[in-house]
Amino acid sequence: MADGIGLAVIGCGTIGRIRAVLAREHPHVTWLGLCDVHEATAKQLAADTEADFVTTDIAALLARPEVTAVIVSTDENQHVDPIMQAVAYGFPLFIEKPLATDPIESASVLKAIEDNGIDAVIGYTNRFRRRFLGVKERLRQGQIGQVTSVVTRAFMNRMVVYATLSKTKNRTNLTPMVVSGTHSLDMSMWLMEGKSPVEVYARSVDTLLGEWGTKDATFGLFTMDDGTLFSMNISWALPSVWPGAVYGLEIGIVGTEGVIDIEDTHRDVIMATEHPQPAGYTSRGFEPDATRYVDFLGSYPPGDISNGMLWGPMREETLTWFNRLAKGFDTPHATAREGHSNLLLTMAMDLSSKTGNPVKLPIEPEALIQG
Ligand SMILES: NC(=O)c1ccc[n+]([C@@H]2O[C@H](COP(=O)([O-])OP(=O)(O)OC[C@H]3O[C@@H](n4cnc5c(N)ncnc54)[C@H](O)[C@@H]3O)[C@@H](O)[C@H]2O)c1
Repeated sequence: MADGIGLAVIGCGTIGRIRAVLAREHPHVTWLGLCDVHEATAKQLAADTEADFVTTDIAALLARPEVTAVIVSTDENQHVDPIMQAVAYGFPLFIEKPLATDPIESASVLKAIEDNGIDAVIGYTNRFRRRFLGVKERLRQGQIGQVTSVVTRAFMNRMVVYATLSKTKNRTNLTPMVVSGTHSLDMSMWLMEGKSPVEVYARSVDTLLGEWGTKDATFGLFTMDDGTLFSMNISWALPSVWPGAVYGLEIGIVGTEGVIDIEDTHRDVIMATEHPQPAGYTSRGFEPDATRYVDFLGSYPPGDISNGMLWGPMREETLTWFNRLAKGFDTPHATAREGHSNLLLTMAMDLSSKTGNPVKLPIEPEALIQG
């Protein structure tokens, strides 16, 4: 890419803003164009990043001759149209998770991406945490032998649920697994690379968040093709005063010759203060329903702001993608196929908890819908 990257960012909210600001730091990004259906949001980010072009019309942005790559950072339910428009141009894509929220649309998006030979990656930011990259390498080297069981537990502050669901009335597929458990599931599947799930059995509870059109928690048990057990559990109903701003994770991986136990709940750096702490995600002016005075520092997944700059995994993830585009590096980003698979697996957990029956895997998107 001798002439530099001409970057189009579609969706200028919380995450699009982080990516666009980082783009301005990277020497290979020579042109930045922005689009958001909410004009004020687009214009504010354009002013803050000194963008070269700003619009509310996706087609007008993608038609610009400078564009060579696209970030899709629209809301969860709004990924498909921008992806399909960008695929028609053949641009490499960075798509925020989930690939889509409808399994049939996800399959058609994946087909379009693969049929057109597009290099499309999905924003599973945890893959860029040094600790997980280190674990991945130990597993690659076979240091704990053959993995036989994996247990994953995600705990989330319910502020994230309120912030995410208050943006849309279309909440049918905005379950804890589809929206957020997908991060932990992606990490677990990545660490178990080479194994394929053959069955999942799950249960959910919706006592608190049922009135929001979602569930409090989903716990599931996958069986892999080699007999490995994978227990995937998420609750995103922790109280708003919980010190974790967003996400806390634990993963235990047991092998025939060793074990890796990952404590990623961010309890290693704790602040207690008389000053109110900001909400984790503050998308679209969201105001939390309660104030936290204790904070697990580091529990905001994109990273930490210091002196106006974001440091942490979303920086690594975004800048590494620019290097992938500019230099052709093989990077740890999730592929579109992995993103599609993650959606189907999270929805299979939801289907099992709905029917009360185990779900055989792999499952076709149509069967998930019918279920
Ligand atoms: N990787 C991570 O750690 C991480 C963290 C949070 C969110 N996300 C994902 O990032 C995505 C965006 O989340 P967010 O928190 O930034 O949301 P947000 O609501 O803050 O921003 C989304 C923006 O997209 C705009 N938009 C919606 N439809 C559009 C369209 N058709 N064309 C142009 N603009 C459109 C909205 O007006 C809004 O400004 C979601 O898929 C979310 O799940 C990823």
